[in-house]
Amino acid sequence: MKLEAALAEQPQHVPDALVRDFDLYGIPGLVDGYSADIHALWKQVQDSFPDIFWTPRNGGHWVATRHDDILTLCTDTARFSNTEPFIPIGIVPHTGPSQLDAPEHPPFRKLVSLAFTPASLNKATVRARAAASDIIAALRPQGRCNFMHDFAGVMPIVTFLNLLGMPETEAPYLRDLAERMVPGQPGAQDAWGEAGDYIAALIREHQANPGDDFISMLVHAQVMGRDLTPTERQNVVQLVVTGGLDTVINTTAFAMTHFARNPDLQRELRENPELYDGAVDEITRRFGTSNLARLTRCDTALAGVSIKAGEQVLGIFPLAGLDERVNPDPMTFDPHRVGRRHLNFGSGPHTCLGARLARREIRIFLEEWIARMPECRIVEGTSPRMAAGLINTMRDLHLEWEPA
Ligand code: HEM
Repeated sequence: MKLEAALAEQPQHVPDALVRDFDLYGIPGLVDGYSADIHALWKQVQDSFPDIFWTPRNGGHWVATRHDDILTLCTDTARFSNTEPFIPIGIVPHTGPSQLDAPEHPPFRKLVSLAFTPASLNKATVRARAAASDIIAALRPQGRCNFMHDFAGVMPIVTFLNLLGMPETEAPYLRDLAERMVPGQPGAQDAWGEAGDYIAALIREHQANPGDDFISMLVHAQVMGRDLTPTERQNVVQLVVTGGLDTVINTTAFAMTHFARNPDLQRELRENPELYDGAVDEITRRFGTSNLARLTRCDTALAGVSIKAGEQVLGIFPLAGLDERVNPDPMTFDPHRVGRRHLNFGSGPHTCLGARLARREIRIFLEEWIARMPECRIVEGTSPRMAAGLINTMRDLHLEWEPA
């Protein structure tokens, strides 16, 4: 999908050898916008393009594909700012704290982190496990399902509703909204507007009837010695919503696709629960989702390439863990892998605040689905449809198994 038809002019300091016709939303190898294996396509980009290259698409920007350079983007905050993390600029509304630099970022981050108290994490994961268990009990006799709709899309939403202290009856509406909000999809801008209205109403409701939950706490919270503005309150809630849904949904779905194609892996994991710690980390390494940019603050160089102040550099975070310079045989899913490295939860001051929760959710997927379901395969004649963008996403995953 071409979001911006016009090509940006190649700046004088960009050498021809580093220019590639690359569109984040239409990466090479996609057919009608989709692929059956998006990580294999990303790997081809890493293998065949320069480590850092410039594209005239989507406003013109740099792309970094290697672990060490993406790590520099995340950690060298003197040279790289978080203020414009989306390609193209303006495709989604400002997401508040995640788009701030120091000194504003740390106090807001501290505020967001209050959503992740041990008590709220425990409550959220207990409910997520119960939801997973109920779904599996209902699905198992049916012998088939659309994993995206029936499982992957449900558990993170139940988790998030409990994290924020909202009723679980909101789950179907929110799942639909999350699907419509994927940047680059038709109607995504409207869906972001709808999410904004929904969150504003939620905050008003908690103002009128405060409880013992994160949103009620936000109503009275202060940053830097002052009350939050209504927009800031809304942005904080929106960040927790948008940070925690598509990421977990798609990571789980990518992993399930891989397991469905490799029944030996399903068997190995089912028979060896002691592998789950390694498997959770291997899932997050092997099936990354987020492709986020930094704005260069000053004229500088990254891996010897000259970059000017004000230019965006897109980091393909999922490729950091697929870089053979840091992980041998990177495309192989190996729960036994020792010393694995990846950046799928970021690094530095913006490191994912939901990483602990996400790991717990992925573990629930292993403990409930992989451990309890019979061997699953992809329904013949169907194919998972995966797309690239600010996050790598999946539309459908039709699975079948022998009903008990
Ligand atoms: C597999 C699941 C997840 C992945 C791959 C993921 C990925 C990321 C990444 C890469 C960042 C850093 C962004 C940057 O450097 O600009 C981030 C930040 C963040 N994530 Fe996650 N995330 C996941 C799950 C979650 C969950 C479950 C939540 C909350 C419910 C969450 C909330 C956040 C928040 C609030 C931030 C912003 C932190 C800051 O800017 O200080 N994430 N996430």
